[in-house]
Amino acid sequence: MRKTLLWNWTKFLGVVTVLTVSAHVFLSLSKHSAGPDPLPEEEYRLISPLTYQYLLNQPDVCRDRSPFLVLLVPVAPQEAAARDAVRRSWGSAARDVLTLFYAGLPPSGPQSRLQRALVEESKLHADIIQMNFMDNYQNLTIKTMMMMKWTATYCSSASYAMKVDADIFVNVYYLIQRLRSSPRLGFITGSLIRDGTPRRDPQSKWYLAEEQYPESSFPPYVSGAGYVFSTDLASRISWASRFVRMIHLEDAYVGLCLRVLGVRPVYSYDLFLRNLFEIQNLAYDRCSFARLVIANGFPPRELLHAWQDFAKGHASC
Ligand SMILES: *[C@@H]1O[C@H](CO)[C@@H](O)[C@H](O)[C@H]1NC(C)=O
Repeated sequence: MRKTLLWNWTKFLGVVTVLTVSAHVFLSLSKHSAGPDPLPEEEYRLISPLTYQYLLNQPDVCRDRSPFLVLLVPVAPQEAAARDAVRRSWGSAARDVLTLFYAGLPPSGPQSRLQRALVEESKLHADIIQMNFMDNYQNLTIKTMMMMKWTATYCSSASYAMKVDADIFVNVYYLIQRLRSSPRLGFITGSLIRDGTPRRDPQSKWYLAEEQYPESSFPPYVSGAGYVFSTDLASRISWASRFVRMIHLEDAYVGLCLRVLGVRPVYSYDLFLRNLFEIQNLAYDRCSFARLVIANGFPPRELLHAWQDFAKGHASC
């Protein structure tokens, strides 16, 4: 009798020990695989698109069609001329491509004349999406996360998305051709910056205080002028932003989200190892532009002027 009691007690202790050890192992493993800690609620609120409301939306543009490529163009509310130039050039040049503009609130507020003009323009073209955060340079990262969330929610059936500024020359023909043979998942490409470091000089446009970003370098990222990704990344980047403190450099911020996901951005070369995403300003040249995906530095008039020639002539290069 005594013996069985002792035996049972030993067995019980044994089971408890095994359970405790496995619980420890399980916890340390899951802690390890969970990666970084989520942001405190008030820090995530600033960047989360759920904090803001749509003032203008186009929820049905991808309902009855699955575009091959969605072009996501951040613009300030007052940049009507830039939107117009994009609509009349690369924004409407190819079938299977959808172009949308993303704006925040004008500094003059939701009752301003500027806002009324934007609403009218939106009725006419049905291509403007607006949320109620203040539209300025410091808030561009909020806008990028809004574009990611929007794509994940309303246009995840598209194969690829491209974030591209309005003053960029986009050779959509060549881009589509390149994308036809690109990976369909976990893919992001552009002008790759491998060794970016935060600027600590307060006079710099790219200044980043050490309290905001203590690390001495950035993980690899693609320049914000124009980058292309498979649309599965839109929801994954949105998810990853729960773990990444907001910095106003939107492209470096996306790079930090990619690090959380373990996704490496890739460089786009042609056969001659030329960068296809040219972020330097280049003078327009029909046949050299035929072999590029983007070129930088095209205000509305220059863009329209160059495009007139390019649309007619690029095929003969
Ligand atoms: C960014 O937008 C939020 C929401 O409108 C606003 O509270 C904040 O002041 C803006 N940031 C800057 C630097 O303007």
